[in-house]
Amino acid sequence: MIKLTDKEFKEMYTYVKTRYGINLESKRVLIEGRLNSTLQAKGCKTFSDYILLLRKDTTGEEITTFLNKITTNLTFFMREPKHFEYLKDKILPEQEKTNTRKIYRIWSAGCSLGAEAYTTLMTINDYFGVKKSLWRTPVLATDISQSVLTGAKEATYKADLLKDIPLNWRVKYFKPAANKKDEYQVVPAIRQDVEFKVLNLMDDFHFPYLFNLIFCRNVMIYFDQETRKQLVNKYYERLEPGGYLFIGHSETITRDATPFQFIQPAVYRKPSR
Ligand SMILES: C[S@@+](CC[C@H](N)C(=O)[O-])C[C@H]1O[C@@H](n2cnc3c(N)ncnc32)[C@H](O)[C@@H]1O
Repeated sequence: MIKLTDKEFKEMYTYVKTRYGINLESKRVLIEGRLNSTLQAKGCKTFSDYILLLRKDTTGEEITTFLNKITTNLTFFMREPKHFEYLKDKILPEQEKTNTRKIYRIWSAGCSLGAEAYTTLMTINDYFGVKKSLWRTPVLATDISQSVLTGAKEATYKADLLKDIPLNWRVKYFKPAANKKDEYQVVPAIRQDVEFKVLNLMDDFHFPYLFNLIFCRNVMIYFDQETRKQLVNKYYERLEPGGYLFIGHSETITRDATPFQFIQPAVYRKPSR
């Protein structure tokens, strides 16, 4: 097994922290464990050789492979269901009364394999029923990892990722995947509203519109306090007044560090004008 020297470890976590906001300072064993096969496959005898490879790579492929190895892409349908209940019980009834343009924009930031984006659209579809055709509900789903986005677009999942989906939703919103036993694909009527894009949350992102709802769940766990604070402020800027931010239930936003209103655990709101 190839080990990291202290110097290599420091160089690696500084590089990843600066470029991707991901804090690996306590992940030395994880890096060694998850990257050894990659080093061998690339013919690197030391981590220094590998760091050089990462720095020299201009295609973005090496860094993508690296990030895929060290970040956790765990996701599943109906994860943290309280958010979808809040959407159905509070947000959508309010939108029905007040949103005369009938456009509701959502961003799933750090979307992984897309289960969060698709669950949101299933919730919206189920709420509006036949009236859904009167609404536009575009979802932008972004992640740093190209490989999860390829899977997200294909929208085909093993049965265990669907275990929390109600049976009637499974029938309505999924079909058995062609040539794949025990796998299910999300139906086109749901998929058509999602646009997937590579986006590093550390970059200075801009969009030509504001969002009504931003999900950033189980992503900021990788970031340090200062990076989180900056990101939360960027989300604030990108939301419509009255818009919501959903974070993971194991995550927190320091109350005095943000202008967001705390609504309930993991639910924050930008005040209406
Ligand atoms: C644990 S998954 C969470 C997926 C989903 N939000 C959920 O809660 O089920 C975290 C995702 O964040 C992505 N991620 C980590 N750092 C990122 C960054 N700097 N920019 C964009 N995405 C990032 C990872 O690639 C991963 O897919």
